[in-house]
Amino acid sequence: MERGAVSVENNDNVGGKAFNVHAEVAVQVRGLRRTFGDFVAVDSIDLEVKKGEIFGFLGPNGAGKSTTIRMLCGLLMPTGGEGTVGGFDIVKEPEAIKKIVGYMSQKFSLYDTLTVEENINFFSGIYNVRKEKRQARKEWTLDMARIREYRSVLTSTLAGGFKQRLALGCAILHEPPIIFLDEPTSGVDPISRRNFWGLIREMSDAGTTVFVTTHYMDEADYCDRLALIYRGAIIAEGTPSELRNEQMKRDVVELETDHVSRPWKSYRYTT
Ligand SMILES: Nc1ncnc2c1ncn2[C@@H]1O[C@H](COP(=O)(O)OP(=O)(O)OP(=O)(O)O)[C@@H](O)[C@H]1O
Ligand SMILES: [Mg+2]
Repeated sequence: MERGAVSVENNDNVGGKAFNVHAEVAVQVRGLRRTFGDFVAVDSIDLEVKKGEIFGFLGPNGAGKSTTIRMLCGLLMPTGGEGTVGGFDIVKEPEAIKKIVGYMSQKFSLYDTLTVEENINFFSGIYNVRKEKRQARKEWTLDMARIREYRSVLTSTLAGGFKQRLALGCAILHEPPIIFLDEPTSGVDPISRRNFWGLIREMSDAGTTVFVTTHYMDEADYCDRLALIYRGAIIAEGTPSELRNEQMKRDVVELETDHVSRPWKSYRYTT
């Protein structure tokens, strides 16, 4: 199979119910809500993600991105609202959803004490990749992640960009048609970040739906559409250019610094 190509061969019949691979909508939720005690982490949000789209979910720390993703992957029950992922009900059919999605968690859930190859073998088992396909999927992952020469090294010794690509490979060994990536570029160097977005684009071009969270504003442009989440609520939604034109009518200045006051003063004096 081509690099980046993802088929639904394994997944076209989950729990006796056909997964509609031609459905235009991959993810749809209405009034999705999650509370923890009195605290509202996700506040009745509506979302729609089209098949094959790269959908970016942007927001600062604690905004509710991971909580949303975990509800969409069937890992956390919503306390309110309804919706479907790949045609399956998020409240009634979370087990079916787990089989048709790939999930790369925020902390790259690889086993540091296993070698690269052992991690791939382990996740092949977890995701029930058919025995006759395992070798081919492993070779595909080693190539996609550009990690072939490291196959026998301990995962703990890998640099961030390699770990990130290995984690992506392990999350899609079962060739899911929809993938959820939770801050996949966090803590990774800029060149690896850019290369990673190239991989995501290839997957989307091959028909995979990608739901990806980030708090890097500069990554918004890699997405087909975006939603901005703040304190559990969606505050803006659209294509990157729509958001720039409609929501950001005034200057947008992004500063990255350890000394906030200095560049801020320079900016004020120049405007
Ligand atoms: N199990 C839990 N119990 C209590 N509060 C929780 C729980 N899980 C998440 N929260 C709270 O819900 C809010 C949203 O958390 P969430 O992890 O979804 O944010 P996030 O946007 O992913 O943030 P980050 O960018 O830091 O990963 C936070 O205030 C968090 O402390
Ligand atoms: Mg998070």
